[in-house]
Amino acid sequence: MGKYALILAAGEGKRMKSETSKVLHKVCGKEMVNHVIDIMRKACFEDVNVIVGKGKDQVMAKTSSRDVSFSVQEEQLGTGHAVLCAKDFLQGKKGTVAIFTGDAPLIREETVKDMLKSHEEGGYSATLLTSVIDDPSGYGRVKRDGDDVEKIIEHKDCSEEELLLQEINAGMYMFDAEELLKALLLLKNDNAQGEYYLTDVIEIMKNSDLKIGASITEFDETRGVNSRSQLAEAEVILRKRINLFHMENGVTLIDPNSTYIGADVAIENDTIIYPNNLIEGNTKIGKGVTLYPNSRILDSEIGDDVTITSSVILSSRIGRNTSVGPFAYIRPDSVIGEDVKIGDFVEIKKSTIGNGTKISHLTYIGDAEVGSKVNFGCGTVVVNYDGKSKFKTVVGDNAFIGCNTNLVAPVTVHEGAFTAAGSTITEDVPAESLGIARAKQVNKDGWVRKRKDSGKY
Ligand code: UD1
Ligand code: CA
Repeated sequence: MGKYALILAAGEGKRMKSETSKVLHKVCGKEMVNHVIDIMRKACFEDVNVIVGKGKDQVMAKTSSRDVSFSVQEEQLGTGHAVLCAKDFLQGKKGTVAIFTGDAPLIREETVKDMLKSHEEGGYSATLLTSVIDDPSGYGRVKRDGDDVEKIIEHKDCSEEELLLQEINAGMYMFDAEELLKALLLLKNDNAQGEYYLTDVIEIMKNSDLKIGASITEFDETRGVNSRSQLAEAEVILRKRINLFHMENGVTLIDPNSTYIGADVAIENDTIIYPNNLIEGNTKIGKGVTLYPNSRILDSEIGDDVTITSSVILSSRIGRNTSVGPFAYIRPDSVIGEDVKIGDFVEIKKSTIGNGTKISHLTYIGDAEVGSKVNFGCGTVVVNYDGKSKFKTVVGDNAFIGCNTNLVAPVTVHEGAFTAAGSTITEDVPAESLGIARAKQVNKDGWVRKRKDSGKY
């Protein structure tokens, strides 16, 4: 039996007051709709179709890397109408169709799997996810007849009595594909909002004597995000969940409340993370790493036993036992070896740095290939840009770059060579040689005294 997922993402999200489509706002560093897509995939729904409408170009651009297909809902006539817009996707499919919303990113993989299991084993035509909450205002209410679900009534269509019902519809469902298509064609929009409600499918199925199931789950998983304050609430809940997961895996978080770890970050055990670290994107952190406060690490791979302090690392790799910072900036496509020291106020751009090299202070290295056990003196600058093009610099193993050297690219300092402090190196330095490129010092004896005596000053 096939498994298909539809994700509703055509709505406008007026209450966000944003030029960005609501479902593209991020929670723990990832767009809400992408959270939902990833969770559906993990729960074994391979074939995912996203229903787009308002801001569809943005939504398609940000989700297309996830290999999904799209249906377009030109006019937003309700959630039932949205699903009808995916008719071409649903046509001829047999099996289970999961329908989830792109603005509810807190659903857990396990809950989707449990729901699928109960849906399939129970032989239901529809299974909905519900929660019981104190203040159900705004949500569709689940009306039961004994244990059986009878129908869902939207808040705006509830009678006084129905408003008191505390079981709410999470807006997450599993349907039998063929029965869903049949029921959708019977939807009407004779309700308070004049919309085609997907929720009415439940009553239609019930009236055809089909079996309806319901799984109850905790409210936190079913929260929808409609405003910036709900976005912040979702962030807190997901952050707690992510942090707990890492602590259970053996990572120490000194202060979980001020540790920000993205949903797709992997961290091995015995790593210690101090407050105010932001770890984002597709980052992998090894064992025994220490992250002192105030770093941002994005899409990077950090080896075992690395130490990082107050630094920014973007799309780069840092080898085992290397230390970075304080105040270092590692820019995209850099590969730093093992046992390297990157010290204070060092910027590395698109360069490789060999094992055991030391770049301790106030240095810029761009577009360079640096060997192992190289020592950079304080204040080295790789001059990689002539205002028009970028050029490459190569520094061989065991080279020693004197303080305040400029390496004007393209240039090579060969293995074991030295550059004299203050040199502006424009020509290659042969192996084991010393390159000196600065004016020879001249001392003028008594110059200061003579200047005074001249009476002019
Ligand atoms: C919906 C449910 C409600 C449930 C609640 C849970 C209906 C009629 N109501 O209400 O029972 O308690 O979710 O959060 O389904 N969308 C479209 N096209 C449209 C309208 C909406 O794609 O024409 C999308 C939105 O982008 C959003 C989702 O569907 O991702 C839900 O729409 P929204 O308007 O937020 O529905 P609710 O009023 O919250
Ligand atoms: Ca909603």
